[in-house]
Amino acid sequence: MVIQTGLLLSFLSLSRAISISVPGPAPSNASKYVDPDFPGLAFEQASLVEYFQNRDGSFNNFSQNLIDAIFNRTGGTPLIRLGGTSADYGHYLPDQTTPALPRAEADNYQDIGNTTIGPAYWELTKSFPNAKFIIQLPMAISNVSEAVAWAKSAAEIIGMDRIQAFEPGNEVDMYPDPQLMPPIYQGRLNNETYVGNFTKYAAGVADAVQLPDGPFFQAFDTALHTLHVPTCFDLGINRNNIVKTVAQHYYQTNGGGASDLATGLMNHKAIAGQLDLFRPAIDYLAKEHPDIPYVMSEVGNSLNAKHDYDYQATLGSALWQVDFQLYGLTIGVAKFNFQQIMHSGFDLWLPVDSAGIPAQVFSNFYAQPFVADFVGSSGMTQVAQLTATGAGDNVVAYGAFVNGQAERVAVVNLNYWSSVFSDGPRSNVSISVNVPESVGSVVVGRLASPGGASAHADTMTYGGSQWTYDSLGQEVKNVVNDTQVLLVQDGAVVVEVLDSEAVILQLNGP
Ligand SMILES: *[C@@H]1O[C@H](CO)[C@@H](O)[C@H](O)[C@H]1NC(C)=O
Ligand SMILES: *[C@@H]1O[C@H](CO)[C@@H](O)[C@H](O)[C@H]1NC(C)=O
Ligand SMILES: *[C@@H]1O[C@H](CO)[C@@H](O)[C@H](O)[C@H]1NC(C)=O
Ligand SMILES: *[C@@H]1O[C@H](CO)[C@@H](O)[C@H](O)[C@H]1NC(C)=O
Ligand SMILES: *[C@@H]1O[C@H](CO)[C@@H](O)[C@H](O)[C@H]1NC(C)=O
Ligand SMILES: *[C@@H]1O[C@H](CO)[C@@H](O)[C@H](O)[C@H]1NC(C)=O
Ligand SMILES: *[C@@H]1O[C@H](CO)[C@@H](O)[C@H](O)[C@H]1NC(C)=O
Ligand SMILES: *[C@@H]1O[C@H](CO)[C@@H](O)[C@H](O)[C@H]1NC(C)=O
Ligand SMILES: *[C@@H]1O[C@H](CO)[C@@H](O)[C@H](O)[C@H]1NC(C)=O
Repeated sequence: MVIQTGLLLSFLSLSRAISISVPGPAPSNASKYVDPDFPGLAFEQASLVEYFQNRDGSFNNFSQNLIDAIFNRTGGTPLIRLGGTSADYGHYLPDQTTPALPRAEADNYQDIGNTTIGPAYWELTKSFPNAKFIIQLPMAISNVSEAVAWAKSAAEIIGMDRIQAFEPGNEVDMYPDPQLMPPIYQGRLNNETYVGNFTKYAAGVADAVQLPDGPFFQAFDTALHTLHVPTCFDLGINRNNIVKTVAQHYYQTNGGGASDLATGLMNHKAIAGQLDLFRPAIDYLAKEHPDIPYVMSEVGNSLNAKHDYDYQATLGSALWQVDFQLYGLTIGVAKFNFQQIMHSGFDLWLPVDSAGIPAQVFSNFYAQPFVADFVGSSGMTQVAQLTATGAGDNVVAYGAFVNGQAERVAVVNLNYWSSVFSDGPRSNVSISVNVPESVGSVVVGRLASPGGASAHADTMTYGGSQWTYDSLGQEVKNVVNDTQVLLVQDGAVVVEVLDSEAVILQLNGP
């Protein structure tokens, strides 16, 4: 760490001047207490096998260590959603000895209509004893017995104490699949037939499985959001108090290449604009059903058929992931599940060597220890957006308030700069941060790469650390020493944040 005084930097700096005033107590529109489970995971049905098991069938410590690196920071439980479109059209075969067929590979990661699982699939969960699972049940198949077969076998093998929720149906607003039509599969659903089917499948499961007291089903999981949350509640989706969480899916863009990174993902207006579309549903729940959390249960940066790593697996996409989560928390999203599918561009890591690509950590993983540290492990953290005067649209600041008092500030500088694609030197913003009176010094940790927005994970660090396959997903500290301690002078510190970089300021006492 390098000790510097804020004053010195402010005299030297010619960069754009921005000021942030950190209120001592949490602002009145801060979020509720953030659930330490908030940074959840999700695996497309068959892909889970490679994420949890090495090729020789041994336990995948690499995945375990990466998951721990996120949840050791919040003290939360890893909530892992298993499912996706392949599960919705999948079959449970009690005699199948392989966990899932076909195996998830580069061009075969989602075999809609042909995915089958056996009891060994649920057995995989036993090697991750500190996680809980959200089990998606097939509802695209017009046969409640199929969903019941999944729920019963999951309950028996995983144990109900490690199942967070059952989720009938995935992206039900996309039914029907053009290849898989009624009467074997569902047709198009409206609010009424969705509620009719959801409650019917849930009742079938409740008859067959001893559910714990209280609501146990995750509802909606929509993609196009043509179903209307208040209308479905009016139609009785929760008549029997069965809805535990309301969930919707989120992808920022479709497609995208390296040249679209600035406008596609590194774009706060687009992030906030798209998240704001969910606010009517979030606000409705907060008002009418305050005990039902709102979850983004399947998230990825882009539905990019070409899996373009120069767009989807860069420092720029990791900054998208930070801003997406922090803004989402401020508007009342309770939790997220980041989707992983073998070889998708938005993945956080590739768990095994596959299709000629070595196992590795992708850039997007780095967003997770960042947001986990920002929220911390108190269980009493509220998050609020802070006004950054003079910042323009793309430099965004958030405060984390613990027990009502400011403890951390995050600044995300989404302005694009790349060592490969940009002409000219890298700019920065010089931010004068007015801190509460009790704060004597500030520790600044960075999510950064000398390559800027287009950098991949190999040159990225967070807090000076890297996570690699060589380290089997364990934190390698002091790869770079870019953490600074700034002493408060006249009630403020000045911190420079490079274009395409994010920082966390820990507000320590004197
Ligand atoms: C920020 O920009 C100013 C003005 O160009 C420059 O003097 C300063 O060295 C830059 N800071 C960093 C950390 O690059
Ligand atoms: C992998 O994890 C297992 C189970 O936690 C443990 O017994 C084993 O020592 C670990 N292996 C490595 C190489 O870390
Ligand atoms: C995370 O916590 C678990 C349980 O306390 C511990 O076994 C593991 O070593 C920790 N992992 C990391 C990466 O710190
Ligand atoms: C599913 O398997 C059938 C029979 O092997 C095949 O005809 C069909 O193309 C497969 N569907 C997909 C989506 O791969
Ligand atoms: C419905 O699913 C059950 C369980 O998989 C199966 O035994 C039954 O044959 C299916 N019924 C139809 C009509 O496909
Ligand atoms: C659900 O209800 C809303 C509100 O009435 C309506 O706008 C929407 O079109 C309905 N969805 C479908 C799929 O019919
Ligand atoms: C379930 O959805 C189908 C369309 O796929 C519809 O015909 C049926 O009426 C719905 N069932 C209920 C109970 O609403
Ligand atoms: C909370 O208030 C701040 C400052 O007025 C504003 O910038 C922000 O958008 C508000 N947040 C929400 C979620 O309404
Ligand atoms: C960073 O600091 C640590 C501890 O002082 C030192 O061991 C390490 O070599 C330094 N790393 C670099 C890249 O300078």
